[in-house]
Amino acid sequence: MTYPKIRILILEDVPADAELIERELRSGGPDFSSLCVDDEGSFTCAIKEFHPDVILSDYSLPGFDGASALAVARTHAPDIPFIFVTGALGEERAVELLKSGANDFVLKDKLVRLPAAVKRAIAEAEEKVKRKAAELSLRKAHRELRESHRYLERKVEERTKELKESEQRFHLIADTMPNLVWTARPNGTIDYLNRHGLEYIGIPEPESGQSWHIKPVHPDDWKTTVETWRKAMVSGEPYQLEHRVRRFDSAYRWFLSRCIPVRDEKGRIIKWYGTSTDIHEMRTSRDELGQLVEARTSELQNAYDRLLTETRERERIEEQLRQAQKMEAVGTLAGGIAHDFNNILAAIIGNTELALDDVPEDNSARRNLLQISKASLRARDLVKQILTFSRKSDKERKPLSITPLVKETFKFLKASLPASIDMKLVAEAAHDIVLANPSQLQQVVMNLATNAAHAMPDGGSLEIALFDAHFQASDLLPDPEMESGSYVAISVSDTGCGMNESVKRRVFEPFFTTKDPGSGVGLGLSVVYGIVKSYEGGITVTSTPKKGSTFTVFLPRGEEADGAPGGEQRVRMGTEKILFIDDEEALRVAAKDMLSRLGYAVTALADPREALDRFRQDPTAFDVVITDYTMPGMNGLALGKKLLEIRPGLPVILHTGYNESVDGGRAEDAGIREFLMKPLSRQELSDAIRRVLDQRI
Ligand SMILES: Nc1ncnc2c1ncn2[C@@H]1O[C@H](COP(=O)(O)OP(=O)(O)OP(=O)(O)O)[C@@H](O)[C@H]1O
Ligand SMILES: [Mg+2]
Repeated sequence: MTYPKIRILILEDVPADAELIERELRSGGPDFSSLCVDDEGSFTCAIKEFHPDVILSDYSLPGFDGASALAVARTHAPDIPFIFVTGALGEERAVELLKSGANDFVLKDKLVRLPAAVKRAIAEAEEKVKRKAAELSLRKAHRELRESHRYLERKVEERTKELKESEQRFHLIADTMPNLVWTARPNGTIDYLNRHGLEYIGIPEPESGQSWHIKPVHPDDWKTTVETWRKAMVSGEPYQLEHRVRRFDSAYRWFLSRCIPVRDEKGRIIKWYGTSTDIHEMRTSRDELGQLVEARTSELQNAYDRLLTETRERERIEEQLRQAQKMEAVGTLAGGIAHDFNNILAAIIGNTELALDDVPEDNSARRNLLQISKASLRARDLVKQILTFSRKSDKERKPLSITPLVKETFKFLKASLPASIDMKLVAEAAHDIVLANPSQLQQVVMNLATNAAHAMPDGGSLEIALFDAHFQASDLLPDPEMESGSYVAISVSDTGCGMNESVKRRVFEPFFTTKDPGSGVGLGLSVVYGIVKSYEGGITVTSTPKKGSTFTVFLPRGEEADGAPGGEQRVRMGTEKILFIDDEEALRVAAKDMLSRLGYAVTALADPREALDRFRQDPTAFDVVITDYTMPGMNGLALGKKLLEIRPGLPVILHTGYNESVDGGRAEDAGIREFLMKPLSRQELSDAIRRVLDQRI
């Protein structure tokens, strides 16, 4: 072990001894430097200036002694180890010296102990110094601790005082407030309530440190209150809510409560501070206002919805009306053309029939005449269709039950349409009587079903349904030309190609077709339209491209018929006298010829005024009058009226191809018995004549 060079002060009057000591130390002791003195003065000086680490002192010295030296050392350097290196020394003396502060004794005859003694003394001295330093710092720490304790106590006192003052201030302010002011423990129990709060709820102030067990919140608002408070517990955010608080008289008033949590430094909530402001009046009027606004809003919304529906409905009706007007115009045009064609056809048909009567069987012209007749009849059919569309045809209508008729048509369709079309009939009409012409009605179903089949070239489903439909005055009518009331509906649905909007808009127009020339003329639906409209019915179409279409026909429900059976078709002859009036010569000639052949005596005139004169001369000269409607000078209706004035009960038949201006009701009132549509076939004409003559009273 190496030691730092230590300084040794030796007090020794005998140089040999001093040398011995040094030698001994050098032999086994630490590395050192030494200073040897032999009197008090130099000893004292050496202590102050040499700063020894250890003092080795002889006990007996001339003019100075070891005990005094020890005293000097303890005075000037109390902590420096002091070892006596001496001859024999009494035990008592030694104890005494040790008490006075000597650290050790080494006898001169046992100097070999000296190095160890020096090391130990130095070690002890160092230890002592360290201990002293430790004690010193401990004492210092104690002192500081005491001071900070005192400081803290002072601070706590100050803070407590401040807190008390602040709490007093808080209570003072809170008590002057018109709101309920309160504080609550972390668990929500109220531990302070201001004066106004106590008075409002009607409870006494509790003992200090106590809290109330009150639940002044309205039971209906309790859940929301607790939920809001719980949320605030989690978020630590202030909260506010509106709830009802019970007053001392058990009445509840609305309050706006605001609350903030106060937390400790670890973030735990230690207190809630809250105020509750009475908003009862505001809240009640707000609720009333809210209800008022809500009611008004809903009224407005309803009005708006109504307006929207009405606007849409008006637009739909306007569109349907536009469509109906267009169809009306087209009908007028087509009807006008058909009328002229009719007159021409009547002449062709009449004359061909006459020629056929005259041409012998074996004449080759007969074949040509038959061709003319066939073609003319085809043309007449076409014209009839146009007239049907323009509602100029006047087919006889009678009450009929449409279920058997539709069933029969369905059977026919099923037999004739391809098997790839799956057909279904749903006949659910409880009251299926309509005032209609059976062949026209059949035509309606046939045309709709044929179109449906055409729309499904690759097969599909075709459904014909019959059902009752009733519309109140307030109901939306499917067709604006319909009236409210009871209807029998026939719908024809298919799963075919469907139609786009522009096709759908035009389907009822005559000659509108999307089919190839030869496959469709475009008259099918216009005929349906004409028939349905002439029955005061309606028709609708719904369609989705690639999905299919549904056409629905609504026919006004009619009353049960008396059950007059239909007669067999046969040209009926007669011998009565007929006055026939028509300004068209060809027609007049043909009719005269046809009627004469049936046995009648015919007077055919072109001028209605002449006819009137002739009739006036002898009112019994004729059994029946057949007159055209549109004639120069006087129309057929006026003529009929005049004749009937002269001879009431006279059978008058009005025939026209252009009866739009003829009011059927008016004509009937005037006594006109029959209406016939041009061109007149022999069958129709002979039937009508027999009807009026045979019914004669
Ligand atoms: N069920 C339907 N599905 C799809 N399109 C249809 C349907 N019914 C009618 N249409 C369309 O309406 C058009 C007119 O029909 P309409 O019956 O008047 O004439 P058409 O069938 O073309 O010819 P026509 O009936 O004179 O032989 C048709 O060409 C077709 O484009
Ligand atoms: Mg068709």
